[in-house]
Amino acid sequence: MTSLPTYTIGICGFGTVGQGVWKHLTRARATIEARLGAKLVLARASVRDLKKVRGVKIPAAKLTADPLAIATDPKIDIVCELMGGTGLAREVTLAALARGKIVISANKALICAHGAEIFATARKHGGHFFFEASVAGGIPLIKALREGLVANRFTRIYGILNGTCNYILTQMEEHDAPYATVLADAKRLGYAEADESLDVDGWDTAHKAAVLAWLAHGMWVQPDRMIVEGISRITPADFKTAATLGYGIKLLAVITRDHATDELSVRVQPTLLPEGNVLANVSGVFNAVSVTGDVVGTTLYIGRGAGQDATASAVISDIGDAVALLRHGKGAHHMGDDAPLCSDCRLAPPERIRGRYYVRLSVKDQPGVLARVASVMAKHHVSIASVIQTPSERAGAASLVLTTHESDERAIRATLKNLGGLASVLEEPVLLRIGDFND
Ligand code: NAP
Ligand code: HSE
Repeated sequence: MTSLPTYTIGICGFGTVGQGVWKHLTRARATIEARLGAKLVLARASVRDLKKVRGVKIPAAKLTADPLAIATDPKIDIVCELMGGTGLAREVTLAALARGKIVISANKALICAHGAEIFATARKHGGHFFFEASVAGGIPLIKALREGLVANRFTRIYGILNGTCNYILTQMEEHDAPYATVLADAKRLGYAEADESLDVDGWDTAHKAAVLAWLAHGMWVQPDRMIVEGISRITPADFKTAATLGYGIKLLAVITRDHATDELSVRVQPTLLPEGNVLANVSGVFNAVSVTGDVVGTTLYIGRGAGQDATASAVISDIGDAVALLRHGKGAHHMGDDAPLCSDCRLAPPERIRGRYYVRLSVKDQPGVLARVASVMAKHHVSIASVIQTPSERAGAASLVLTTHESDERAIRATLKNLGGLASVLEEPVLLRIGDFND
């Protein structure tokens, strides 16, 4: 019987995800090794605080507070960067790649900020960088885009990419639960980022959208060039109003490419989705992504988007690819590391991003207010489709929800600025998009 080759793994970051990878690789070692045709050695893991009590126990001798020692250890073949952040994580990643190692990362913030440098370093030194866990948790979405859909030019990718936000929105919608309590639950369950504002303000979704846009279109789009809006101003009342209109509310990333004009648009926005849309019914920590290609049509991917086990599943899938690469000298990825740059592609200007809108205003409950609001909208050529007025908890105030016919981002922005300046408008207006997606 021939003996199996042995590969050694180091884990930088032993928190929610790092412990999940260790736990599942240990628990299912025999099956995974048989599937991969290799022996796997979990050599070391790094943490910041060596004294912290952890759910997954490993020998003290295997723990270090020095992730760079793992990244540069000549005995380690595969380095998993599961620390998060863009400082030390970048150093660790580049140090390992510069030694020709395989780096596996779940760190979308890092890839978004430093992806170009990371892939260039990998190419220069013969290293490899895998990142299945960085987008949509346990859904093998990166693999689907890189391998299964290689025949396609992508026209639209949209979806729920943040488990924490979807969990919060679901709890608000189904249980009228207060925002702060639900956010605390999401942290306890290991869904949220160490800095949870990355989740709720839309930045984590933007980082993931940047990774997808780069894979699909070969262009790095930084969040400061996207529309990025979070969920913190959505209230249980918005869900009730949306439901009367026939919609649910989801935080979506939307990436569209018009291949005729070569304009790309990447945005993150709380969106009203028709109740019949599959994504409107995806709840809790689940993510769901719709990918439309010119050859395949529309394909749909649903699964857990965050949490220890789902994310560990994605990291271990990359370990499988790493082992295949080490054993056979090549991987299966058809696009990605050398994604062709879309040299003619440019970002669509705001006036070319069209859609319908939901605007909620807290206004003085007085005669003439609706007329003033309507006049501002008319001035900016934004046509009103419906108006719903409900009482407000605030004395002497009312909540006014307007939906619009199709307009564009420049017009709606100007309208909101103008509305926010009216004396009869008591708070900054809330804007949601209406997603008329029929697939
Ligand atoms: P976490 O629970 O906060 O774990 C981070 C680990 O890295 C901890 O062990 C921490 O040490 C260590 N660490 C952090 N900063 C460090 C530093 N400056 N020096 C040394 N060690 C440091 O985070 P996580 O949820 O596992 O997430 C890890 C990565 O996976 C992040 O990039 C995240 O965005 C990504 N991700 C997470 C999920 C999820 O569901 N949680 C899903 C997909 C992707 P201590 O334990 O001693 O503090
Ligand atoms: N905080 C992220 C989320 C983790 O909630 O989706 C998965 O990337």
